[in-house]
Amino acid sequence: MRAWQLWFLCFVVLNADAQKVTSLEEDLTDSAFGNSLDPVKDLFDDKDDRRGSVAKFSLRNPSHPDDDLCYIIPGQPETLAACAFNRTSKTFLVIHGWTLSGMFESWMPKLVSALYERERTANVIVVDWLSLAQNHYAIAAQKTKAVGREIARFIDWMEETTNMPLDQLHLIGYSLGAHVAGFAGSHASNKVGRITGLDPAGPDFEGEHAHRRLSPDDAHFVDVLHTFSRGSLGLSIGMQQPIGHVDIYPNGGSFQPGCNLRGALEKIANFGIFAINDAVRCEHERSVHLFIDSLLNEREPAKAYRCGSNDMFDRGVCLSCRRGRCNTVGYGTSKVRRPRSAQMYTKTRASMPFRVYHYQLKMHFSSRVNTSEMEPSLTVSLYGTKGESENLELKLEERLETNKTHSFLLVTEADIGDLLMLTFQWKETNSWSLSNLLRMVSSWWSGSSDGVEVHKIRIRSGETQQKMVFCLKDPDARSQPGEVTFVKCKDEWRRKPKKISKVTLKND
Ligand SMILES: *[C@@H]1O[C@H](CO)[C@@H](O)[C@H](O)[C@H]1NC(C)=O
Ligand SMILES: *[C@@H]1O[C@H](CO)[C@@H](O)[C@H](O)[C@H]1NC(C)=O
Ligand SMILES: *[C@@H]1O[C@H](CO)[C@@H](O)[C@H](O)[C@H]1NC(C)=O
Repeated sequence: MRAWQLWFLCFVVLNADAQKVTSLEEDLTDSAFGNSLDPVKDLFDDKDDRRGSVAKFSLRNPSHPDDDLCYIIPGQPETLAACAFNRTSKTFLVIHGWTLSGMFESWMPKLVSALYERERTANVIVVDWLSLAQNHYAIAAQKTKAVGREIARFIDWMEETTNMPLDQLHLIGYSLGAHVAGFAGSHASNKVGRITGLDPAGPDFEGEHAHRRLSPDDAHFVDVLHTFSRGSLGLSIGMQQPIGHVDIYPNGGSFQPGCNLRGALEKIANFGIFAINDAVRCEHERSVHLFIDSLLNEREPAKAYRCGSNDMFDRGVCLSCRRGRCNTVGYGTSKVRRPRSAQMYTKTRASMPFRVYHYQLKMHFSSRVNTSEMEPSLTVSLYGTKGESENLELKLEERLETNKTHSFLLVTEADIGDLLMLTFQWKETNSWSLSNLLRMVSSWWSGSSDGVEVHKIRIRSGETQQKMVFCLKDPDARSQPGEVTFVKCKDEWRRKPKKISKVTLKND
């Protein structure tokens, strides 16, 4: 099955509740694959770019974010006044994606409201291309170019009629709408200010040439949020490749917290593709909600960090903000123009506000014995001036190598203020290997000749960019078994640990 077919299946299911489909399978065979795939393929020939009007431009009213009360009609300047278009203010064009229900999805009024909340005098125009978006996925995908051209003509007309500077124009496109925005930008006579792509659709666009999808050439600034860029199962609904000036992959671009995609994938294994609906919708649409969050929570913006890969990010090695390495997620993303696009990563909570606080922990494990056989299960608790965050799991992304510095990423959901102290615990588990685990862990921390030593822990906060060093508190005092405490000490972050300051962890 081709990727888009799978994608289509998913979205049939997504939209099924809105459609009151009685027999889903029947509907699927009839509407999607009934006439075989060949006619669909023919439609890829780009020959039916009628100059007709498919797209409608509804200037939404802040007090009725859900209703289309006034349409701006290209060629009819009086409609601008009638809709109370503000010529000196920012203008947003919000472009929806694929639909089977033929209706706007529930995020639309939320995004409109949030845009007005942030930019009170703005013109928020919803582009309605539902009549074409309500089609086979492959057809709707192919129509994005024609719709984009029509929007480009609208932009040209607006510019001519109102003299609005195009750097005041911001196109926001979700899923297929992101590529529509790209085509609109590339066909407009002058370059538009900004395009935000919210999880741009992957099938039929991934790997395509830049002029056949959203790309950095389409606006002065193109920023993209990727929330469903999962590759396996032939099911990447969003784009995996970076396609903007700034590409942010929250949670690695997939497995968004609270969406339970893992659970859904297991269900698919057991119950087939029809089990996927909510999790897929949740992940894909998360991009929109992250953007809404960034509009509403201006004072607490989430940060994203440039990194070579998600694995590296998960090891905490990418939390630097030096020389434009970090940026704000969503509306506040700042224009950085690079010859090559920058992939950025961030972690999020499961719901609004999505921001979390990122920390890098660096620890040097020294031992006379080879520790790579050990698999300690550790949790860390952080205590700060404003609060604490307890029992955070320390993920060992690789084997514990002896005499090597390891780096970890930790995130807290709450702002704990300035970090004062941290403790390490090993927790009892229900697993059959409990005694085994305890034996391993206690030998791991013990001061016996084959014990592991940790002198100090270096910590960098992504959000504050502060660097701190923590040393073992009271090396000789017996803390509770199964727990060691480190407190802030004066050592410099970068200085090499001196042999003399070596402290052996004891808990027996
Ligand atoms: C139009 O926008 C400008 C600036 O954004 C603002 O100062 C002005 O009050 C707005 N006009 C109306 C009628 O809202
Ligand atoms: C780690 O380094 C120490 C001191 O430099 C050395 O005595 C020890 O043998 C090393 N451990 C391993 C497993 O190489
Ligand atoms: C430690 O053991 C692992 C496998 O048990 C081995 O691959 C590695 O080379 C060893 N390291 C040292 C320093 O002996």
